[in-house]
Amino acid sequence: MKRHLIIGMHLAVQGDYGKKGALLDDHIAFAKRAEAAKLDFLFKADYLMAHPELMAKTKGTVGLDPSFLLATVARETKQIGLVTTISTSFTPPYLIARQLQSLNWISEGRVGWNIVTSIDGAYNFSNELMPSSEERYAKAAECTTVVKQLWHSHPYEILEAAGNIAKIKELVRPIDHEGEFFHIKGPLNIPMHPAGDIPLFQAGASDIGRQFAATVSNAIFAATPAIEVGIEMRNDLQKRAVKVGRTIEDIRLLPGLYFFIGDTYEEALEMHRQAHAHLTLERRYNALESVIGMDVRHLALHDHVTVDMLPPEDQTVRSQTHADLVRRYIIENEPPVEVLLARPEVIGSAHLVAIGTPLDIVTQIITFYERGALDGFIAVPGGPAKSLDLFFSDVIPMLVERGLFRAEYEGSTLRSHLRLDLENHK
Ligand SMILES: Cc1cc2nc3c(=O)[nH]c(=O)nc-3n(C[C@H](O)[C@H](O)[C@H](O)COP(=O)(O)O)c2cc1C
Repeated sequence: MKRHLIIGMHLAVQGDYGKKGALLDDHIAFAKRAEAAKLDFLFKADYLMAHPELMAKTKGTVGLDPSFLLATVARETKQIGLVTTISTSFTPPYLIARQLQSLNWISEGRVGWNIVTSIDGAYNFSNELMPSSEERYAKAAECTTVVKQLWHSHPYEILEAAGNIAKIKELVRPIDHEGEFFHIKGPLNIPMHPAGDIPLFQAGASDIGRQFAATVSNAIFAATPAIEVGIEMRNDLQKRAVKVGRTIEDIRLLPGLYFFIGDTYEEALEMHRQAHAHLTLERRYNALESVIGMDVRHLALHDHVTVDMLPPEDQTVRSQTHADLVRRYIIENEPPVEVLLARPEVIGSAHLVAIGTPLDIVTQIITFYERGALDGFIAVPGGPAKSLDLFFSDVIPMLVERGLFRAEYEGSTLRSHLRLDLENHK
């Protein structure tokens, strides 16, 4: 069968904590719409901290534990995949393995794990400073290996061995892991779901993050605000995957697609303007400072930011990915301060911003796909309800008409939606 776009969507519900019943009802209504559109999966980010800037910027992505929330959504949906975020910097692998496997049973094989190393929050885990990026990724690599071993330590076949202690002892084996970060005996206390290995997603795209993704994950959730950034990253990931013995199809690049859709381009642009109107100049200055450690307050808004003004590259930054994107934008464009302070890399999550009519959005997606800048995307709804309505009523049907997206689900597990082989769950 022809390969088509992979489309996931942020479960971007504001979440009304004040109105009884609304919190879950709103999430479930949203999930049902995404399932009716036959999307591959719902995606839930997660941050283990309460940061006011972040809370203001990422509506609905802080708060409820995503795995609990998705367990509830699983009960109310039948086919759509459910990708939850769990940080390897803060969560022990035994708990990760157990939670994900539990969710996979609850949802009957629809779970995916978004592996994050987190940029902040160590102060909530008895550790005042975040470990370096290298240490976080080294821990992520070991953690992921252990999680997979734990899943396989309790195979599905155990269900046929009920009552047979000798058989149980033969099948359910300790893993006896002794590593740099973890000492874990195992086995896991829950069998693997027959759907097989849980698909792995990774978010983070520095050099070391890419290597990790290309080695272990099935897809990478990335911030690629420009087509060239996407092409470069996809090629690079594919090369890295081949070098470690995988194929170019084994790693899929899924940028965030932050969309604002209107009946006209002007209407969509106004939606975008309104969504960012709350960002004062001071907040934009602060955002730039926090991403690359650069203060431009002394410049006039029309002054150009030139390459020689960039701070040294070796300083510690919160996210190397975001810092690299902003540096690259400055190097390539030497933009006026005002333009720089309006860029998604500075004021947003650096996702690809799509503004326009449904046809504009479809054209942009197809251009990126055909030029090899993406294998699909994770939709991040940005505008008012109308923008989301148009995504479901027009954008998805147009992609289906063009043979780029499914009209019906072919299966009911996330592995099947992503067309991963179903063999290796031994
Ligand atoms: C697109 C994207 C989404 C991310 N989502 C999360 C998240 O939901 N929770 C989290 O703790 N960290 C998240 N991160 C942070 C990464 O896990 C990682 O810690 C950070 O980006 C540093 O790694 P890097 O230098 O490879 O980008 C995200 C990063 C990117 C680029």
